[in-house]
Amino acid sequence: TTILVLSGPNLGRLGTREPEVYGHATLADLEASLASSAEAVGVDIDFRQTDDEGELIRWLHAAVDARTPVVLNPAAFTHYSYGLRDAAALVTSAGLPLIEVHLSNPHSRETFRHTSVISGVATGVIAGFGADSYRLAVEQVVRIVG
Ligand code: DQA
Repeated sequence: TTILVLSGPNLGRLGTREPEVYGHATLADLEASLASSAEAVGVDIDFRQTDDEGELIRWLHAAVDARTPVVLNPAAFTHYSYGLRDAAALVTSAGLPLIEVHLSNPHSRETFRHTSVISGVATGVIAGFGADSYRLAVEQVVRIVG
């Protein structure tokens, strides 16, 4: 099984972006640690980041066509992108898991982060555990798809 792990805008800046919120690890560090956890549970990870909403949407369309489960950190798009929500709904309506993840706990932060337009169409949500949010999501996808 391959799991598509997508990260949205500004997550390519991890390491130097608000380290008091997101820590000092870079996205490349996160990818490396996720790859080793994935190997331990016997899955491959297709790890990608983009700052572009359309690109994320097209990746979700391709996941539907290829029947690939998805772990998605929608970053700021979480809070307002109905286009991304509709694309996420295509994934879960197709019977594929889509787990929404966040490094931080958005509910303990600014009010605008308390709303997720993605959660209502996600299979589940994991937030607040840093890079472990991604690892837990991958492990859960493995439980779901076997
Ligand atoms: C985030 C939380 C979002 O509110 C924020 O816009 C991000 C990252 C997280 O992983 O904690 O860019 O999705």
